[in-house]
Amino acid sequence: MAPLKELRVEGTLRVPGDKSISHRALILASLARGKSRIRNILQSEDVNATADSLRKLGAAIPALSSDFYVTARGMRDLRSTEQQLDCRNSGTTARLLAGVAAGAGLRAKFVGDASLSRRPMRRVAEPLRAMGAHVDLAPHGGLPMTVSAGALRGIEWETPVASAQVKSAILLAALIGGVRATVSEPHLSRDHTERMLAGRGVEIRREGTTVELPAGQSVRPEDVDVPADPSSAAFFAALGVLSGRCALQLTDVCLNETRIGFLLALGRMGGRVDITDERIEGGERIGTLLPAASRLHGINVLPSEVPSMIDELPLLACLATRARGETVVRGASELRVKESDRIAAVVSNLRTIGAQADELPDGFRVVGFAEPKPLRGAVRTLGDHRMAMAFGILGAMPGNEITVDDADCVAVSYPGFWRDLDRVLP
Ligand code: S3P
Repeated sequence: MAPLKELRVEGTLRVPGDKSISHRALILASLARGKSRIRNILQSEDVNATADSLRKLGAAIPALSSDFYVTARGMRDLRSTEQQLDCRNSGTTARLLAGVAAGAGLRAKFVGDASLSRRPMRRVAEPLRAMGAHVDLAPHGGLPMTVSAGALRGIEWETPVASAQVKSAILLAALIGGVRATVSEPHLSRDHTERMLAGRGVEIRREGTTVELPAGQSVRPEDVDVPADPSSAAFFAALGVLSGRCALQLTDVCLNETRIGFLLALGRMGGRVDITDERIEGGERIGTLLPAASRLHGINVLPSEVPSMIDELPLLACLATRARGETVVRGASELRVKESDRIAAVVSNLRTIGAQADELPDGFRVVGFAEPKPLRGAVRTLGDHRMAMAFGILGAMPGNEITVDDADCVAVSYPGFWRDLDRVLP
């Protein structure tokens, strides 16, 4: 059998544009009066769901490409639609656009695929109702969701879960409705909405984990060059660290502090990832990641660290099979309501391929080995893009033989993932 540390990884990769920033770039360009240039947007299923939905609401969004313009006539120019807004697999589309519809006093019906239809929408329905909008949900608290006009009022909202989608829905509703909002969350969730609003002339204040948007503001157009998605780069950073020899450069990666939890955790596990070419662009810290072959050990991830690495936790679980000792993640029950129940899915898949893993109510425990035995078996993604890619990385390790049942589901966030994986493995 080949020694496990023989893998070579090399090349230069700009992984696709950040998914969160891409959704927001389209939404904010549709709300501004004037012309916004958008470069390097993520061209994926999720972002297309937002583009299509905005078009149905009247926004003039051309076909997505690497460089295009959106021209809009201001926040009040969107209109109600009788057509259903199909958010497909995208929670960000449903929740952020619910905020847009509520703020603009529009009527819109949101539907999605089976996975999205199961996901909780009360978390946005409740604050939007408290602001005066009418929001109807299916009896289980999910999609279909219908938002319709109501006289909007300001809100002070405390969310029990740290969720950038909930925070953004409230901020967008308040902005468009012309009212004041404050949102407090238990831990700081990703803050792209706040940064992008500030970059477009909207006054927004933050104190600790509370953000405030004063009433009566408008958003001006702004050009954006979408940085590479740290959640996509994470797969290749992990691959490099697990390799035997790594000469990989991951360029233009967004290094926003609310997004780098995985990199920090990887560092604590002994994984070396150097950062060069650091700079600020479009209000975001950006840099090149240089992962190096490393020997890993297990760590404890604290609940306070979870929001900054929420989408990378399936990958962390896979990585932990190659880290000596135990890796434990707690305070991550949000994983149960993502594109799949990611706690159950990652643990059962790890067990299927012969790894040692246990579910915890709010996380997982994985026991790993620095010189691990080969992992073999068939992974069920449940249509979850991050599950497919996380096990794709583990499957690239010499000695492992892992098949993924729905390889195409990566199209949600990273359509070229398998091609890029091939490219960096000479
Ligand atoms: C996102 C927020 C996070 C994240 C999702 C994208 C966003 O979800 O998991 O992939 O763009 O606001 P929550 O807000 O539900 O934590």
